[in-house]
Amino acid sequence: MSLVLALALMAAPATADAMPMEHYPTLPHVGGADHTFTEFGGKDGLTALMDDAMARWLRNPRTRPFFANADQARIKHLLVEQICVVLNGPCTYEGRSMAEAHRGLNVTQGAFYALVEELQIAMNGRHIPFSAQNRLLAALAPMHKDVITH
Ligand code: HEM
Repeated sequence: MSLVLALALMAAPATADAMPMEHYPTLPHVGGADHTFTEFGGKDGLTALMDDAMARWLRNPRTRPFFANADQARIKHLLVEQICVVLNGPCTYEGRSMAEAHRGLNVTQGAFYALVEELQIAMNGRHIPFSAQNRLLAALAPMHKDVITH
């Protein structure tokens, strides 16, 4: 796990339970670097990245059970929209809140870390600058309070 992610997890507020996306205290936008969306290759880059990431999540034994029977195309589409918004891109996220989407899935901390690690490998594979990767991870990390329920 990256240092940035570890720090962000520790700093995450404990009160985010069941909060809709728009009410996250520290989310969903990365700050200070308006070129982050471009560094990810825009929406096409995010789409390609989520294809790579989902392929990896389906291969990793810690994440595969969650995604194997899910609507993978829908999840990828919503992740592209959500990350695009987080990166200040020209998108609208119309999916559910993180609490609602992950309720009852029993996502463990180990599964969360495995998902993030596979995402990091996918980002490296697409040569996304490390600083841009860390900005995204820092923005996503506080969501773990709504995702990990087990
Ligand atoms: C910061 C981390 C995460 C983010 C940003 C995220 C984002 C999302 C988004 C945007 C959706 C679609 C919402 C919707 O259906 O309306 C979703 C659904 C889903 N996520 Fe996550 N997720 C995260 C972590 C995880 C983890 C760690 C797992 C399991 C290893 C997971 C498993 C799933 C599954 C199985 C669904 C589909 C649920 C369903 O169709 O009912 N997610 N996630």
